[in-house]
Amino acid sequence: MPKSKIKGVGFYVPDNVIKNSDLEEIMDTSDEWIQERTGIKERRWVEGDLTTSLMGTYASKIAIKNAKISKNDIDFIIFATLSPDYFFPGSGVLLQKNLQIKEVGALDIRNQCSGFIYGLSVADQYIKSGMYENILVVGSEIHSGGLDKSSRGRSVSVIFGDGAGAAIVSKSNDESEILSTHLHSEGKFADELAVIKPATTFWIDKIIDDDEEDGKGFFPKMNGNFVFKNAIKRFEEVIFESLNHNNYTSKDIDMLITHQANLRISQYIQKKLNIDDNNIFNNIMSYGNTTAASIPIALYEALEKNKIKRGDLVCLAAFGSGFTWASALIRW
Ligand code: UT7
Repeated sequence: MPKSKIKGVGFYVPDNVIKNSDLEEIMDTSDEWIQERTGIKERRWVEGDLTTSLMGTYASKIAIKNAKISKNDIDFIIFATLSPDYFFPGSGVLLQKNLQIKEVGALDIRNQCSGFIYGLSVADQYIKSGMYENILVVGSEIHSGGLDKSSRGRSVSVIFGDGAGAAIVSKSNDESEILSTHLHSEGKFADELAVIKPATTFWIDKIIDDDEEDGKGFFPKMNGNFVFKNAIKRFEEVIFESLNHNNYTSKDIDMLITHQANLRISQYIQKKLNIDDNNIFNNIMSYGNTTAASIPIALYEALEKNKIKRGDLVCLAAFGSGFTWASALIRW
């Protein structure tokens, strides 16, 4: 059976840096609170006419270059985002247009923070089945346009940042391989972290009459403590699931990259798994929580800093809205 590997990674973040002190000026918050509760020092928020699909396009160009393939070699596009350019069509086809890729299939994934690993899993299965050889997997998000930037939204809006990451997943002819992926969801908690409008249940004509005045439903709503407690439980479970499946223990992990939701969550997982500082990579301090983009952005930076080398055992894990959670174990 063919096996797959990550052949190249790319990322793009907007130039516009928003420091915690910038947020102090627009809402009732403090640098101290944000750093203590989340680890975040700054994040990027788009300016001008940058879009989710455009950022994904820039990240993809770098991934294609690093994979040493041509855009004409791409057989399929997978685009993970919770903040698409349009309500429809999806961002995959927009990226295809931007990159001027031939008429291959383009699939959008709506799995929030877990979107990139879900995408990786789909790509892995297509390659294992022999259907495709090179798949572009993208995670890209623009949160800044949809946040409640008043004090009312402070518990959510200080967390999120904009950015994009991309990976080329290809048929592997060497020792590198995606060993396994593990996907989960628990829809009964869908409303615990959600943006519910606009949607077919709150269609535009109803919205205008309803609660337009306070924007209820349009801004992200998060039951932060509840999400936090579920996150630490599910991260641990799904990481162990991937290790057990492949007969490894947490001592075998050379690099752990968790979705960058909150530095306290990553540190909790690190402690639980007894992982050394050298074997985990966090960059939430610089970019905030970029949901589907956070793992490929962190992966890119860890590679850039030579923290991952050939043959390493790399574990990726995510948890987020849905709830959805997932992991991938990779022999790099
Ligand atoms: O990416 C998807 C998955 N997402 C996550 O995993 C996120 C999980 N949740 C979290 O990371 C944390 O719950 C938050 C960072 C969102 C919040 O941290 P917390 O330690 O759970 O704080 P809290 O919501 O319990 O709020 C504590 C206090 C409250 O004040 P009182 O009631 O104690 O007086 C809040 O009003 O902090 C207040 N607060 C703030 N103060 C200053 C909430 N947000 C802010 C803020 N600045 N931005």
